[in-house]
Amino acid sequence: MLSKTMLKALNAQINSEMSSSYLYLGMAAYFKHINLDGFSNWMAGHSKEEWGHAMRIWNYVYEQRNRVTLADIQTPTESWKSPTDAFGDALKAEERTTGQIHALVTLAQKENDHATFAFLQWFVTEQVEEEQLFDSVLQKVKLIGDHYGALMMLDHELGASNHGS
Ligand code: FEO
Repeated sequence: MLSKTMLKALNAQINSEMSSSYLYLGMAAYFKHINLDGFSNWMAGHSKEEWGHAMRIWNYVYEQRNRVTLADIQTPTESWKSPTDAFGDALKAEERTTGQIHALVTLAQKENDHATFAFLQWFVTEQVEEEQLFDSVLQKVKLIGDHYGALMMLDHELGASNHGS
């Protein structure tokens, strides 16, 4: 069983991962709208990945014989100034998630909750990869700027990757 505090924090994290999923779906819609289908598919794939993160915690809460409580998911923004703007926001969202995961680890340590501490290690490693992934695309779109040909090439590259699927 989880402590009340730990359960509340894990439920909040489920909501946060679902909100990230929705945010990336909003970004997928934005990219679709500006005819960057490769970017859109990539973001839709990442949206699924975030939903998977939420479900990983969801399953863990039940494994611990507790109960999940769901809450409202905030409506995401659906419009950005440019791909750079969108990926800048995505990286900020990932950095926020990293902070939340680290806070959960600290809480698990404080509560001597060894099982949750061990469970969270997957997320700690995942966040290093996530930040690196989003930053690598951000750096590329920054370099490309308004260069249409290069943007199309990156769109093709992202669309061909099976990220998130
Ligand atoms: Fe669930 Fe992209 O972190």
